[in-house]
Amino acid sequence: MRNGDAGGSRPRLYVTRRLPEAVEARLAARFDARFNPEDRPPDRGELETAMREHDAICPTLTDRFDADLLALSGRRVRILANFGAGVDHIDLAAAAAHGIAVTNTPDALTDATADIAILLMLMAARRAGEGERELRAGRWTGWRPTHMIGQGLTGKTLGLIGYGRIAQATGRRAEAFGMRVLHHSRRPSGEAGHVATIEALAAEADILSLHIPGGAATRHLVDAGLIARMKPGAILINTARGPIVDEVALAGALRERRIAAAGLDVYEREPAVHPDLLACENAVLLPHLGSATIETRTAMGMQAADNLDAFFGDRELPNRVA
Ligand code: DGY
Repeated sequence: MRNGDAGGSRPRLYVTRRLPEAVEARLAARFDARFNPEDRPPDRGELETAMREHDAICPTLTDRFDADLLALSGRRVRILANFGAGVDHIDLAAAAAHGIAVTNTPDALTDATADIAILLMLMAARRAGEGERELRAGRWTGWRPTHMIGQGLTGKTLGLIGYGRIAQATGRRAEAFGMRVLHHSRRPSGEAGHVATIEALAAEADILSLHIPGGAATRHLVDAGLIARMKPGAILINTARGPIVDEVALAGALRERRIAAAGLDVYEREPAVHPDLLACENAVLLPHLGSATIETRTAMGMQAADNLDAFFGDRELPNRVA
């Protein structure tokens, strides 16, 4: 079956969240587009309605498309053009089984997310969050040689878990800071610095940074056992997905100073952040800002629009994941 506009009418598109202006304008010009005026995640009923009433949905990571939703009888949707790289909120097997195409926006956010990984490394290593909290609370008593001593990045070893685009971009930035960069990927990368096991990498790294997808296969990959292998002065960075880390185990290790610090941009139950983590002075906690630049969010939207255009123009999908 061809996907092109049936009978000359424009395809109906539901966009679950507000997108940068230029992206909404492009989508509105091409599609019979409905935007979510309240900019909150649609509830289950709204998603069910969207499945029945639209030809395409542009969802994002706050929208869960499980097998039941994707199996809805009377469904009309033929493509989920996800705004974002991660697709762990979509049951890809169920989408494929129901003939629903799924695309993502993989390239657009590489640099912005790598920047945030480096930002978190610097903040965690140099205790920037603690320092700012102290100053704003009026507790800073002035410069002194032993005040709020952190650690430097130069000469340290960065261990990248995963070796995709974002990991490599993070590695390049780290090298500019004079760091030694190692990595582990499921399939050996064939490049210098590959370490055979995650355990060996965790033991070797001064900073361990996560760059793997979320989902059942990686849930709690960083658990108490792996954290126990890290060096006492080590720092854990997570810009990937919250559930990769067992937050209770991490908070315990931070509290007892078994590792020095953590820098997190993602959480197991966003937007909730585990109270044990909130209580850790040595945790730098950002609200999932990895891709939050106007350039990146616009590029992500344009990439989602490219995928939709390709689908309804009967062309090969540039970023098909299912
Ligand atoms: C993604 O695209 O999956 C990111 O988490 C958004 O910043």
